[in-house]
Amino acid sequence: MQVSPSIKLTENDIMKIRNDFPLLSQKVHGKPLIYLDNASSSQKPKQVIDAISNYYLNEHSNVHRGVHYLSSAATEKYEAVREKIRKFLNAASSCEIIFTKGTTDSINLVASSFGKKFIQKNDEIIISEMEHHSNIVPWQMICDERGAKIRVIPINDNGEILMDEFNNLLNEKTKIVAVSHISNTLGTINPVKEIIYLSHKRNIPVLIDGAQAIPHLKVDVKELDADFYCFSSHKAYGPTGVGVLFGKEKWLNEMPPYQGGGDMIKSVTFEKTIYNELPQKFEAGTPPIAGVVGLGAAIDYINNIGFDFILERENELLEYATKKLLNIKGLKIYGNSKNKGAAISFLLDGIHPYDVGVILDQLGIAVRTGHHCTQPLMERFRIAGTVRASFAFYNTREEIDQLVSGLEKAKKLLGN
Ligand code: ALA
Repeated sequence: MQVSPSIKLTENDIMKIRNDFPLLSQKVHGKPLIYLDNASSSQKPKQVIDAISNYYLNEHSNVHRGVHYLSSAATEKYEAVREKIRKFLNAASSCEIIFTKGTTDSINLVASSFGKKFIQKNDEIIISEMEHHSNIVPWQMICDERGAKIRVIPINDNGEILMDEFNNLLNEKTKIVAVSHISNTLGTINPVKEIIYLSHKRNIPVLIDGAQAIPHLKVDVKELDADFYCFSSHKAYGPTGVGVLFGKEKWLNEMPPYQGGGDMIKSVTFEKTIYNELPQKFEAGTPPIAGVVGLGAAIDYINNIGFDFILERENELLEYATKKLLNIKGLKIYGNSKNKGAAISFLLDGIHPYDVGVILDQLGIAVRTGHHCTQPLMERFRIAGTVRASFAFYNTREEIDQLVSGLEKAKKLLGN
């Protein structure tokens, strides 16, 4: 469905949008599915599924490899998505768009390649206390290899980065800052523009983990002045197995290749290999072509719906859900930042999040429970895990009402 930002949508219009997502109409344990695990992975519209199916039915061949019709057509299609993503992010050049397996792969690429070139013994890498494991572990690995150190920006009890503390951590040993745009667990929208500005004052580059931001906010890498920006297709209504690394040309040109193989070379002899230009230098082997085609269709879908609508709709759902959840006695929300995306982590007094998740599942309600791949953050709040409900524009107030009555039921069954 195509939506104009100037039209105020009714719940009826949302039902039309939901019809684009076939999976949303299924039943789970005999109950209509209520999908509130969008931060983990979003569902896919027919337009994306059809694009992938059409690609395999009619258009598949390998890219950058053949003179024959199908290979040229597949290459054109694959490269057209690169240009589409360049526009979507407002990057300066399509050679700054690298296709990867996902956000984790993008961060590993930068940590490994940037690290090998620019990180020395006793250098420092700054991350925040709310990072996902995928924005912690790759940096730890390169620190181990190079003898460098991780420095961690603390957060307050609302789940907000302490900017003064951040500023104090920046010093001549800092080689890179890596922070999430939106926290997957707390929903905090971090002040990434200010973080980049402060880092750049000292000529320190910044990587933004945009996995949770790309489906929800308009991201402009030029306006942010980000050095690296990473995201996954599958959280943004596209297929799994593909993601994007945006990197400024000046950094990508200086960084060594991450992996070796076909496509990333200009010429190979047993004595010496000359590497390819950007972006192929970072795309060794046959890429996820069908995934890229699906991601292109997902970007078209998001553009048609429009970020004005997405933001307004998700803010409305977040506000409604927060108010309703706080009416449940004994429920505590983790993550109360002023600037927040559509994910709510919470605990029901005395009840293990896993048990809550199992009861909700029996009612057809999908939420994520546990540490959400942010164990250091759980430690910060001295908890083992939370229940997380995360929303997309296709969710409804009625689904939130069902979540609330499911939680009341869990309290009755399991409460002390
Ligand atoms: N990073 C994903 C989540 O937060 C998997 O659920």
